[in-house]
Amino acid sequence: MSLLLTHKKPVPAPVPAVRPADREHGELYPIGLDCLHLDLSAPCDLFRRLSGGEFVLYAGKGIPFDQEIRAGLAELGVEELYIREDDVPRFFAYLRDNLEKIVRDVSVSPSRKAQAVHVSCTETMRRAYADPRAAFLQQAHEVITPTVDLIVRDDAATRALVQLTAYDHCTYVHSTNVGIFGVALARLLHGRESAAVMERLGAGFFLHDLGKCRIPVEILNKPGALSARERRIVNRHPQDGYDILRDEGFMTNEAEILTLQHHEREDGQGYPNGLTSADIHPYARICRLVDIYEALTADRPYHQRRSTFEALRFMQEKILTDMDQDLVRQFVTLFAVG
Ligand SMILES: [Fe+2]
Repeated sequence: MSLLLTHKKPVPAPVPAVRPADREHGELYPIGLDCLHLDLSAPCDLFRRLSGGEFVLYAGKGIPFDQEIRAGLAELGVEELYIREDDVPRFFAYLRDNLEKIVRDVSVSPSRKAQAVHVSCTETMRRAYADPRAAFLQQAHEVITPTVDLIVRDDAATRALVQLTAYDHCTYVHSTNVGIFGVALARLLHGRESAAVMERLGAGFFLHDLGKCRIPVEILNKPGALSARERRIVNRHPQDGYDILRDEGFMTNEAEILTLQHHEREDGQGYPNGLTSADIHPYARICRLVDIYEALTADRPYHQRRSTFEALRFMQEKILTDMDQDLVRQFVTLFAVG
């Protein structure tokens, strides 16, 4: 069996903690260029940020966003455009509608489907993690649903998705990747008939780290070791994520439990509740496994990324010694070529 060791494409920069405001246009929200479809019109006015910090209208609503515009922006080194805060719901509806169309279209190749899914999920997670209010969690849910559907139905697209996962330490990219791996592994273990279960659980894999939105950025991105106090703050995120999902009130119970338990360990040494094997939800175990894999293979402030092969070996030998090794072996098969 050979393993995929391909390097991955760059992703947009993280959303700023405070969104930029412009005197003329009000509060503006950043979007990644990759989520604008080349063959479609701009869903709303698109702004560009100039080097001095001011914003200019780059393409008005309805202007075809074509290859020429994309190439012009690439030449300027622009990776993000901005939309008005008022246009955010329209933009996410555009994202969701196009994703559904692409995923269902039999003439679209698996790799193009995978690309569309990854870009849409990353963009949606960026919003949900920056501002986890019910409306944005609902938008996330709507984008996750066709994603889960694709992973459950289409082996070739799933393989392409696994290859697309990006090495990046942004929480929202990490969460997109954990979501993709989590659903893919759960399906591998439980088969296609689990589509309904996957739909109930899928959002949990994607939103498992939602509680991290309450961790101060300087702790989240600290390059050195955490103090005991900082560690306590970080370790609150499973409970915080669970509380946020509960308060917003539309996530399934399974997704909430997965969020709460994704750092529990079979040997009782995990957190927040020190549960042991029998009390840990099987899907929380899957989430822990893919979460660790994704962290090891991403660049983080405190470590260099490992290759897929190194990460899997390190997990088997050093980290997941308390875990059912069969689960780890199943995960390895996701990376098999062919
Ligand atoms: Fe976590």
